[in-house]
Amino acid sequence: MNEFVDLMTKRRSVRKFQSKMIRNAELDQVLYAGLYAASGMGRQPCYFVAVRDPETRNLLSSMNARILETPDKDPFYGAPVVIVVFADTASPTYLYDGSLALGNMMNAAHAVGLGSCWVHRAKEEFETATGKLLLKEWGLPETVEGIGHLVLGYPAEEELPAPAPRKEDHVIFLMEKKQFPALVDILGEDSICLHGTATSKEEAIREAGQILVDLNCAGSEYIESMLQREQDFSTYLGNGAAIAHGTVWGRTRIRKTGVAMVRYDDGIPFGEETATLVFAAAGVGDDHMDLVQQICVAIQNETVIKALHEAQTYDDVKAALKNLMLYK
Ligand SMILES: Cc1cc2nc3c(=O)[nH]c(=O)nc-3n(C[C@H](O)[C@H](O)[C@H](O)COP(=O)(O)O)c2cc1C
Repeated sequence: MNEFVDLMTKRRSVRKFQSKMIRNAELDQVLYAGLYAASGMGRQPCYFVAVRDPETRNLLSSMNARILETPDKDPFYGAPVVIVVFADTASPTYLYDGSLALGNMMNAAHAVGLGSCWVHRAKEEFETATGKLLLKEWGLPETVEGIGHLVLGYPAEEELPAPAPRKEDHVIFLMEKKQFPALVDILGEDSICLHGTATSKEEAIREAGQILVDLNCAGSEYIESMLQREQDFSTYLGNGAAIAHGTVWGRTRIRKTGVAMVRYDDGIPFGEETATLVFAAAGVGDDHMDLVQQICVAIQNETVIKALHEAQTYDDVKAALKNLMLYK
């Protein structure tokens, strides 16, 4: 990984500091990182008040604690330095600009070996009478708003805490469209069963999944991963059809792109709904989303879905899907 990116992933909020004062050279670098942050239309609406003076630092901490309704606590966690970031509300992007400056500074602090933590409630703090007096004393325009505090110091502990696991599925890739075989070409004769025997959702997923296993698309662990995914949310999509598919982990087990379709004369209960068509999808890498997308398009097309429900032979299924051109 790029050194800079790696550094950003290793930054953590620090909440235990040594009382030792930081060096001016380190403080300067953090301030530079804030000054050089991007801002809407390059307006640079941010102001940075770097507080090394213990008296002011303690005053701000006590004002913040009062807002937090924990007057006996130090919300700055014993950090010897605090940078208060303000932004001029005359700029329409002031809140984003101030937040970005804080983000830049947090990463810079980590890069120079300092610990830092964003401490909130600067807005409320500088809306108080004392806060307004301080703004005047510091020569800041009346139009500024407090965005946040960055408390800074040397971390009291050598090891930074481990990051919380990143949320799954919070990155959505919309990749360039590549030539992808049409669903009609992937769904071979061995991939469909027009009279499934399952009577429950689990059995139906196993039945459709077994077709994928028999086609050598994945091992049986993929079926388990489809069942796991189904526990997280129902894959019933509407129009009497469901698309079972694996979890993120399960998808790494796929050997070959394939799809299965099983039709049930009496339908299978999927929660409140009944599925008469159960698809099982397994796509290698990017193929997966392409495949699921194509099946979704098929299911939402009233003519196609009717034809799939009525198909008597494999050729009928092919004919139903033939005109479904997703990527022209
Ligand atoms: C807008 C914002 C406000 C925050 N306010 C506080 C705060 O008042 N006190 C605090 O201890 N941490 C505060 N944090 C730090 C977060 O709790 C911290 O970033 C989060 O738990 C993730 O941990 P990490 O920074 O170690 O990745 C704030 C962070 C942000 C972005």
